[in-house]
Amino acid sequence: MVTVGIDALEIHTGKLALDLGETFAPAQGEDPDKYRKGLGLYSSSFPDAHEDIVTMGANAAYRLLKRKGLEPADIGRIDVATESAFDNSKPVSTYIAGCLEQVFDSNFHHANKGERKFACIAGTQSLDDAYNWIRAGRNRGRSALVIATDTALYARGDAGEATQGAGAVAMLISEDPSLLELSPEQGFGSADETDFLKPNQQFPSVDGKRSVQVYLARMREALSDFESVSGSMHPDDFAYVPFHTPFPGMVRKAALLGYRHIIRETPIEAELASEIGRQPRPEAFDDESTYLEAVREYTDELKTTDRYQQWYEAAIEPTLSISRSVGNWYTGSVHIARASALKHAAETDRQLTGKRLLVASYGSGAQAEIHAETVQSGWQEEIESLTIDEQLDKRHDISFEEYERIHDVHNHDLSASDVDSFTEPADEFIFDGWGEMGERQYTYAE
Ligand code: CAA
Repeated sequence: MVTVGIDALEIHTGKLALDLGETFAPAQGEDPDKYRKGLGLYSSSFPDAHEDIVTMGANAAYRLLKRKGLEPADIGRIDVATESAFDNSKPVSTYIAGCLEQVFDSNFHHANKGERKFACIAGTQSLDDAYNWIRAGRNRGRSALVIATDTALYARGDAGEATQGAGAVAMLISEDPSLLELSPEQGFGSADETDFLKPNQQFPSVDGKRSVQVYLARMREALSDFESVSGSMHPDDFAYVPFHTPFPGMVRKAALLGYRHIIRETPIEAELASEIGRQPRPEAFDDESTYLEAVREYTDELKTTDRYQQWYEAAIEPTLSISRSVGNWYTGSVHIARASALKHAAETDRQLTGKRLLVASYGSGAQAEIHAETVQSGWQEEIESLTIDEQLDKRHDISFEEYERIHDVHNHDLSASDVDSFTEPADEFIFDGWGEMGERQYTYAE
């Protein structure tokens, strides 16, 4: 059977940076450590005045196609995943294809284009769609372009404001991929939840504390479902475990619960028993609340063991590096977690070909999905081509007052148009004003 998966990827960060400890914390009257240590975030990326979900997605996609030497005829599908769309009918993929057609001599008229929505998990669902399309034999040798692009803004004053971010990840899904093969096995945890939603509004209505609990509950269901098809797992089966990362502190919680689940009934649980006892079993308790209290105590102890901390340092910490500097990218978030892990492997000369990743995606509303990926032999060359470090270094640092202005620029109700870009556009797609039918228009700035 032909292998199918991610052949290549490119990342585009919003070109502005807000330092959370230095700039945001004093303006909020908060301790910088709430953001740096508590949430695990140092700064957030924001789109400059000439950037939006279309320009960020098109810039990532253009770099990807150019680097791989591809033409529009090589692409049979363009799927955009976003929860920041500004058009309820025309998909963002058509806007992005229109941008790309300005710089290619040919067009994408024979590509199937669409837009995927299920909060942050839509990027992974688009990978699924591409995978299934290729597996079904309908791709005629062509690849799919999946673009996860978001401007993750919250209303001013919302607790989520500290987790904002903006950027895009473009991924090429192909037969015989150079980077990662996707597993056919998947696990899902899905339920109708009202934790984070945008009922015809730009900024989310969020029950922040509840959203954290819903994330953990759906993730646990997805893990059990995945095990039911993949068989039981050992933590060392996976070189890295990239999670959807709204902020690294969320992953700190999810990884601990996942580890506790995976080691149950394994030699690891037995080895740790002399130090922290065995995991509580419900049948040993008279009521649920005493059982849950015992589980909480066990989990707190587990977190302090060397065994757990070594696993966390090796399999989780490396997935968080980009996220710490850019914040939440919603649909792109799990994909930058995966990229961070692979970058770490390349930077530390880790031999990764044939090793596996366990990828844990999540979208509010709510659904978690877990699948495995196997690293392919071309991974290192692909990852060394990424320019994300240079992009992060080149971001323009904004003051708090500039942040307030740029938030207004991207607020659909205000669309403040009297703000000049902070950076000089060069070799990139830019937002260029409004057309007669209210459409956003774009051009390529040389
Ligand atoms: N030093 C060290 N740590 C500190 C600290 C300090 N001075 N001050 C606070 N902290 C810690 C807190 O103890 C807390 O850590 P724990 O959760 O581990 O206890 C952490 O910093 C955050 O502090 P608070 O809980 O007080 O922060 P908050 O209430 O202001 O906001 C939040 C937290 C509710 C998650 C908020 O950021 C939010 O609403 N975010 C948006 C929703 C979100 O991202 N939810 C995640 C799950 S949903 C999802 O994943 C989908 C998605 O992408 C949105």
